[in-house]
Amino acid sequence: MADPTVRLVHFSDVHLTARRLGWRRRDFATKRLTGWVNVKLLGRGRRFKHAPATVAAMMRSVRLRSPDALVFTGDATKLAFAAEFTAASSQLGVDDPSLPPGVAVPGNHDYYTTEAAVAGQFEATFRPWQVGERIGDHPYPFARKVGHVWLIAVNSATPNRFHLDASGEVGPDQLDRLKRLCDRLDGGLRVVVTHYPLRTETGALEKRMRVLRDHEAAVTTATGCGVSLWLHGHIHRPFVRGATAAVPFPMICAGSCTQTGRWSYHEYALTGRHLVGVRRTYAPADDAFVESDRFSLLLPAVT
Ligand SMILES: [Fe+2]
Ligand SMILES: [Fe+2]
Repeated sequence: MADPTVRLVHFSDVHLTARRLGWRRRDFATKRLTGWVNVKLLGRGRRFKHAPATVAAMMRSVRLRSPDALVFTGDATKLAFAAEFTAASSQLGVDDPSLPPGVAVPGNHDYYTTEAAVAGQFEATFRPWQVGERIGDHPYPFARKVGHVWLIAVNSATPNRFHLDASGEVGPDQLDRLKRLCDRLDGGLRVVVTHYPLRTETGALEKRMRVLRDHEAAVTTATGCGVSLWLHGHIHRPFVRGATAAVPFPMICAGSCTQTGRWSYHEYALTGRHLVGVRRTYAPADDAFVESDRFSLLLPAVT
C-alpha cells in the first residue's frame, strides 16, 4: 500500500495589531515605546498595513484546501499587547473547531516584554494549537502526531531587554526536555516547528542581534533526536535550504505571510520522506494567494 500523504500549511510572521492597543502607564518604561515609534513613525506599520486582508485571503485558501494541520511559526503580534493577541486569535480562527488542528510557537514579538512572556499571553491565546505530548507541565517542547509526521514545537523566543535585540534561545533545560520527549516518540518523521532559523538562506549565521544564541546546541540536540526537517520563520523572506555538514537536515523558512510585497505561505505534501512544497504569494489584484514556486526534498531518515 502506498504511504498516505500528510498535507501541512505553514505560515509565519503575521504581525497583526489592533487600533486600540490598551497602553498603560508602565508600558512607556518598556521597549514597547521604541517599538511603537518603529511601527508608527519609521515605516514598519506601513509594511504590514494589508495584514488583515492577507490573513483573510490565506484563511479562505486554507478552508478550501482543508490541509491535515496548520503550522504557525510565530510573531503573531507586533508588540505583544493583549488587544493584538485578541486580533490574531480571531483572524486566524484559533478557536474555530471547523479548521484543521494547529501547532503554534511564539516569536520574539510575542514576547516583546518580559511581562507579556511571563503572563503567557501567547500560550493562552493559542492553547488549542498547543495540544500534544509534553514533559510534565512544561509548555515546551510539545509534540503532536499528524499521520506519520511528528510536529515537535520548540520555543526559541525570549524576552530581550535591549530594544534592538531580536535574538532568541531554546535554553539548556528545554533542550534536555526535547531529548527526553524524542526518546518517548514512536516511529515517524520528526519535524521541528520553531521561530528561529539555524542559518540564513546562504548558510551564514544571522547577525548577533537576530541570531538563535544557542544554535550549536540546538543543532546537536535536534540531530540526536533524529530530526528530519526544521520549519521556521523570523526571516521575512521565504527560502528552502537543504541538509549540509553544519546542519544535517533541511530547513524551510515560511517568510512573512503579511508583509507587503513579500507575502507568502507554504503548503507541504509529505509522503514518506518525500516533501513537495508549494509557495503561494498574495496577488492584490485578485485578493488571493496564487502559486509562485514549487520545490521538493528527500528528507533524511530518522536515525
Ligand atoms: Fe517577524
Ligand atoms: Fe521574529
